[in-house]
Amino acid sequence: MTEMPYTPTDVERDALSRIRTCLGPKGWVDDAETLTPWLIDSRRVYEGRCLGMARPANTQEVAEILAIAYKAGLQIVPQGGNTGRVGGATPDTTGRQLLLNLGRMNSVRDVDAANYTMTVEAGCILKDLQGVAEQADRLFPLSLGAEGSCQIGGNLASNAGGINVVRYGNARDLVLGLEVVLPDGRIWSGLRRLRKDNTGYDLKQIFLGSEGTLGIITAAVLKLFPLPKERATALVAIADLDTAVTLLERARSASGDALMSFELMPGFALDWAEKYVEGAKQPFDTTYDWTILMEIGGPRTDGAARIALESLLESAFEDGLVIDAVLPQSEDQRAQIWFLREAIVEAQVREGAQVKHDVSVPVSQVPRFIREANAAVEEMMPGIRPYPFGHVGDGNIHYNLSQPIDMPAREFLGRYAELQHRVHDVALSLDGSISAEHGIGRSKRDELLRCKSAVELDMMRSLKTLFDPKGLMNPGKTIPDA
Ligand code: FAD
Ligand code: MLT
Ligand code: ZN
Repeated sequence: MTEMPYTPTDVERDALSRIRTCLGPKGWVDDAETLTPWLIDSRRVYEGRCLGMARPANTQEVAEILAIAYKAGLQIVPQGGNTGRVGGATPDTTGRQLLLNLGRMNSVRDVDAANYTMTVEAGCILKDLQGVAEQADRLFPLSLGAEGSCQIGGNLASNAGGINVVRYGNARDLVLGLEVVLPDGRIWSGLRRLRKDNTGYDLKQIFLGSEGTLGIITAAVLKLFPLPKERATALVAIADLDTAVTLLERARSASGDALMSFELMPGFALDWAEKYVEGAKQPFDTTYDWTILMEIGGPRTDGAARIALESLLESAFEDGLVIDAVLPQSEDQRAQIWFLREAIVEAQVREGAQVKHDVSVPVSQVPRFIREANAAVEEMMPGIRPYPFGHVGDGNIHYNLSQPIDMPAREFLGRYAELQHRVHDVALSLDGSISAEHGIGRSKRDELLRCKSAVELDMMRSLKTLFDPKGLMNPGKTIPDA
């Protein structure tokens, strides 16, 4: 049966017409073909409908849209690159929500190399910003698999993590100032470029990681860092899981804490990547149990980072921590190894149905977490194939599960919630989190009830009511119903 499109009320129709006038033809999309990819989330779990997509060109237009929407009671779903993993940027199925996509707001307003900052608009693509920083001989360190399409506004709204957190922190650690449009259309111009500003509440932190539930991030002042002139990279096979923690400790010390990335991949994930993803090449002859992709940054081109890495690996070989290693000899080879890391995500999708996780535990507890989670899910479902990988340097494991080979995908996915619940139990029992970097969005909203105290939930709901009293900003996301 074809669903009837939602018919807006007179008030809503009038508001939409004023929004369209304010935006002009370039700022409004409502044809089904253009809208379709924006109505499905990146995991293809959620599919929604909408009144149309507003694509404002500047902060003033965002303010006008929100002011009109606020008066008319129109619900808004903010959207960046739509690469989020928790369904946060997908509208619901009522067809009554308005998508607000920031993609046209993609100017870099300022690069202040001496202050190590750049001021950018929300719709800038993350990879482009890395390039802008590099042009100024600076590093903007946020880096993740979706960097070619995700937008900085989405990164900040979801407090993204990625592959350089061990050295530089999460997205929220990379922000000095923010510009935000509040749900009623008022603009907060908080684009301060200060390293020190101790003048009361740090309001920007409330919006960072708020997943579009409190306001629209329209611009930000981002921190820059000295551009590493050398990157020494190695893909190593480790003796066992506990070794990952020991090797991490050693790598941080031996490099003077210049360790930029420390990523865990099971050996068979490299095989899957080679099998399914064109261009991915597993460099080892053997399928080892566990591998680590690590990278050290150096301030000069004198090879010092490479020497530090080689001497670290030499002693790790002698002590039996590392059993094999590949050190790229060129930038091309380095890129191939990083491509392999990205490819394992797609490879798992191609292998069959999956249950995804994004947990964190204290770094020292990672081996215990993986062992206990493996035992728990194998007891629940013999033949299940755990696929744990990710940012082990931050204690963040994507403890994904692949369906048993002979089980129909439908049957496996029918137990998604049960499996997820059990894995989260294990993470929580080790003082962990059910969402390390992807956020809560729609998919983990109910799980939040299990890991936040009544006091925390009360504070979250009070903030939501304070900033968004009509509940118009991204309804049904992040904050569990009372
Ligand atoms: P969207 O998906 O469009 O939106 C994300 C959330 O932010 C939604 O709730 C949305 O409503 C809100 N929002 C978007 N823009 C704004 C704004 N301007 N103001 C207010 N709210 C807004 N994530 C990681 O953390 N680490 C990884 O390593 C990582 N790897 C990934 C690899 C792949 C292949 C893919 C597909 C995704 C990966 N992600 C990762 C997830 C995703 O890329 C990040 O969450 C990213 O930060 C989302 O940015 P986006 O622009 O796509 O935001
Ligand atoms: C990654 O670390 O590769 C991603 O966070 C995994 C994912 O988004 O599925
Ligand atoms: Zn990740």
